[in-house]
Amino acid sequence: MATASPFRSALVTGASSGIGEAIAHQLGGSGVPTVLVARRTDRLEALAARYDGFEVLTADLNDADDLAAVVARVQSTADPVDLLVNNAGFGTSGSFADLDPDRLHDEIGLNVQALTRLSHAALATMVPRGRGYLLNVSSMAGFQPAPKLAVYAATKAYVTNLTESLHEEARGTGVHVTALCPGLTKTEFQSVSNSGSYATKYPPFAWLPVEAVASAGLADVARGRALSVPGVIYKGMAVATDVMPRRLVRRLSALVQRGSD
Ligand SMILES: NC(=O)c1ccc[n+]([C@@H]2O[C@H](COP(=O)([O-])OP(=O)(O)OC[C@H]3O[C@@H](n4cnc5c(N)ncnc54)[C@H](OP(=O)(O)O)[C@@H]3O)[C@@H](O)[C@H]2O)c1
Repeated sequence: MATASPFRSALVTGASSGIGEAIAHQLGGSGVPTVLVARRTDRLEALAARYDGFEVLTADLNDADDLAAVVARVQSTADPVDLLVNNAGFGTSGSFADLDPDRLHDEIGLNVQALTRLSHAALATMVPRGRGYLLNVSSMAGFQPAPKLAVYAATKAYVTNLTESLHEEARGTGVHVTALCPGLTKTEFQSVSNSGSYATKYPPFAWLPVEAVASAGLADVARGRALSVPGVIYKGMAVATDVMPRRLVRRLSALVQRGSD
């Protein structure tokens, strides 16, 4: 039976796998009509077939026309989106100078530009409406520099920073804005970002269940938290990076990444 949800409707980007797919399942299980966005239509259609009121919107968020279609859907007044989950994102592991600059351009395009455009569409629609929810999926990687994952960490630092600012701007408007900052979570991210070696390099306790990440994000945006950090270990790490000297954080981060070569 569907459990009560604070969300009247939702749109989830990157709903074809991993964290976005898990969020979509939880929304579907709670009876929330949800628009599924990603490039792989077949995956989205299979997911949509499982729940009432699900809609498929195939889009490459690095394509201007596709992004405009998603913006229009977020801004619909006829069929409003109550919760926007900006989840689509990817990373690129390796030494910065060795990486393909076109891929890094696309990474910034998706993680930063598309997310910013969609966040703007959401708040421009939700604030006048006096209600709504924006959940931006960032990362623990955004709390410190990450040598060998440098552009990814920089994009996620942007996402966390932007989202915290928007959280304060939206205070008192009835709109909740939250940055979800997961640690290691087994999804397609590891193969897409060329960080498959993490699976054996990091101990089992370091990995978060994808369902727990999804439920933490949904619960924290419902509660109106600025930051959502799933898991006690990662909550502790987030506090530690806040209080440790920056040069120490940077060196530790480099050592951790060296261990994942
Ligand atoms: N897994 C982790 O350890 C981890 C940790 C912290 C944060 N995160 C963040 O969590 C979010 C979800 O990642 P995940 O771990 O679930 O990875 P994933 O399984 O690779 O999922 C990424 C999703 O993004 C979609 N996507 C990629 N490029 C796209 C594009 N150009 N346009 C539209 N959709 C696109 C993919 O769908 P299509 O390929 O079908 O388009 C897929 O649904 C990302 O923002 C990631 O940075 C992940």
